[in-house]
Amino acid sequence: MNNIILAGMPLCGKTTISVELGKLMGAEVVDTDAEIVKKYGCISDIFEEYGEKHFRLLEKEVVKEVCNLENTVISTGGGCLTDKENADELKKSGVVVYLRVGFETLVLRARGDGTRPLLAGDAEKKLKALMNDRTPVYERVADFTIDCDGLSPEETAKAISELIT
Ligand code: S3P
Repeated sequence: MNNIILAGMPLCGKTTISVELGKLMGAEVVDTDAEIVKKYGCISDIFEEYGEKHFRLLEKEVVKEVCNLENTVISTGGGCLTDKENADELKKSGVVVYLRVGFETLVLRARGDGTRPLLAGDAEKKLKALMNDRTPVYERVADFTIDCDGLSPEETAKAISELIT
């Protein structure tokens, strides 16, 4: 099996779904954000101390590393695919699945989430802007798209496994 790369907006459920998919496929699971945290510490702190540009460099480095893996479910940060080089490398390393969720779902999930620096302040407005910018990117890069609204993480994982096998 090639890698399975999960992509989509912040709060679309990539991390949770990757764990379910890993169990279902008997595959290892890796998360680009978690790798960044392991190596460099908390993402909010990186944004605050060094800025987004620096975070993107660390993200790029981690993307290169995870692309060397095989038979792995790779959960990516929401901004990962907006970098063309990241998108190309990830696509070469496996199948990219876009986890699409509705704007309202994201807004509901954003309430009470204080962990995402790009959503700090007016989360709804920021989600809207990110979604407008990124939807075309996710759609262009993805090999498959799954509509996740109304599906549990287990159901989404099952849908992915059926789609790609
Ligand atoms: C980001 C999303 C985050 C994380 C970082 C930047 C983004 O990951 O990589 O805060 O640019 O959308 P999630 O998609 O898991 O929230």
